[in-house]
Amino acid sequence: GLKKKEVHLLCLGLDNSGKTTIINKLKPSNAQAQDIVPTIGFSVEKFKTSSLLFTVFDMSGQGRYRNLWEHYYKEGQAIIFVIDSSDKLRMIVAKEELETLLSHPDIKHRRIPILFFANKMDLREALSSVKVSQLLSLENIKDKPWHICASNGITGEGLQEGVDWLQDQIQ
Ligand code: GTP
Ligand code: MG
Repeated sequence: GLKKKEVHLLCLGLDNSGKTTIINKLKPSNAQAQDIVPTIGFSVEKFKTSSLLFTVFDMSGQGRYRNLWEHYYKEGQAIIFVIDSSDKLRMIVAKEELETLLSHPDIKHRRIPILFFANKMDLREALSSVKVSQLLSLENIKDKPWHICASNGITGEGLQEGVDWLQDQIQ
């Protein structure tokens, strides 16, 4: 078949938001890991869509590793930013990390697409994607294409919609 276009994707967001769970779910079922553990540093993963081959830098969201993120910004061509929609207490921390990302010199002036997953939509206390979008002030992002989807990293609900959007941005 045709050779797929390779895209470097950064997967960012606070610890425990569900980044690794989501990336794992995007892989073919025979390549999926059974147990997901907190990421140490980062992990490089791959998954395909109909036209793209994504190389993912799945970064640890733990505070002590967040300073690693910026070293991968230059080569990142797209971003997935994952939010735990049920973690109301840390929504402000997620917002601060997003602002730090958006103001970084390697990101600031680039039209890099950002896909937000308002993850853990299955939890009773989860906020809607509209509410998450408001709390993160996403409407202020004017110089980059962005999109937010409610998701469930465990069942995969919402992931396809998001990845389809991302693929459309990169064509
Ligand atoms: P770090 O690697 O530490 O940055 O965390 P992470 O963002 O990669 O989170 P990880 O994928 O390890 O998931 C953290 C926990 O959330 C795990 O217990 C997952 O099973 C759980 N989880 C992930 N997605 C969902 C979801 O949509 N709903 C629910 N209920 N739990 C989820
Ligand atoms: Mg992880």
